[in-house]
Amino acid sequence: MHDQVAEWRWIERYAEQFKACNLQPGEVVVLLSEASSKKQIVETARVALEMLGAAVADVRMPTPSNPGPVPIRSTGASQALAGHRAAIAACAAADFVVDCTVEGLLHAVERGAILAGGARVLMISAEHPENCERWPHDPSLKERVERGAALLKAAEVMTITSAAGTDLRVDLHGAVRAGSYGWCTEPGSIAHWPGGLVLAFPAARTVNGTVVLAPGDINLTFKEYIREPITLTLADDYVTDITGDGHDAELMRSYLASFEETDAYAISHIGWGMNTGARWDSLAMWDKSQHNGTELRAFAGNVVFSTGANETAGRFCRGHFDLPMRNCTVALDGDVVVDAGALRSDLA
Ligand SMILES: [Fe+2]
Repeated sequence: MHDQVAEWRWIERYAEQFKACNLQPGEVVVLLSEASSKKQIVETARVALEMLGAAVADVRMPTPSNPGPVPIRSTGASQALAGHRAAIAACAAADFVVDCTVEGLLHAVERGAILAGGARVLMISAEHPENCERWPHDPSLKERVERGAALLKAAEVMTITSAAGTDLRVDLHGAVRAGSYGWCTEPGSIAHWPGGLVLAFPAARTVNGTVVLAPGDINLTFKEYIREPITLTLADDYVTDITGDGHDAELMRSYLASFEETDAYAISHIGWGMNTGARWDSLAMWDKSQHNGTELRAFAGNVVFSTGANETAGRFCRGHFDLPMRNCTVALDGDVVVDAGALRSDLA
């Protein structure tokens, strides 16, 4: 079923997304991949780009070895470029970079240098192309995400609560706040596809309270639904306690304890999803190696709580959990924008 390298139905969808990025005939494009990139993604992108008249060059990096001790997934911080100055220069000199690295360039250390060169970057990451058939371009997403991001930027405090027991307070002073809707048209900008996420990278010592991961919430590093509740206690940004009877809590404790950096326990980012075409249940349909779960970060009304690197707070580490949660209520200075997992009507 999935042996095809590039299907027409995928090529059409890729081309639609590249057009949303204002790709023009004759533009200089770098198709960035690594040894472990999915051939289907790279070849689908190549055909779509060539169909649109782009001048495509491949930059293909080796996939760096993992020093361990645990597998690293779901970071959005590809290490494939590994500081390679010629590869970085090629990306920076392009009009448009299609990022097919497994983890993506969103938080890669080379991101700044590439964007400073004026390239716009679309990160496809490791999503099987069949998924994109279900994500037709939604022009309303840009407006809705920008509205959500404006609300977040204007707020001083974000609170997250849920019937499951989550009760978290984020002081937004000093937080970097942004929205991503899945395409980019300006030089020096980056997007991930699918998009539809509004989030904050909180400043240091601004996050306190409790996060309860309920059954059906997701750990996107493990690419699994939570089956037994996990309670995380946060004090001044750091998870200080992980409780829960099941093996889900045990796995989380074990993975986090594998990192020498205590910053693995601290909050990375937090926000909510706005993509009404993205689905919570899609993870159930795929083997882990076939997708990156970006759709589950974006589905409308979810809250993505995340641990690991947070530049805004001056924290760096390799471990990263993205933990989409359902049925949460998000309030900005007391105004509810997500009510028990449902977007407010002006955001939906
Ligand atoms: Fe993340």
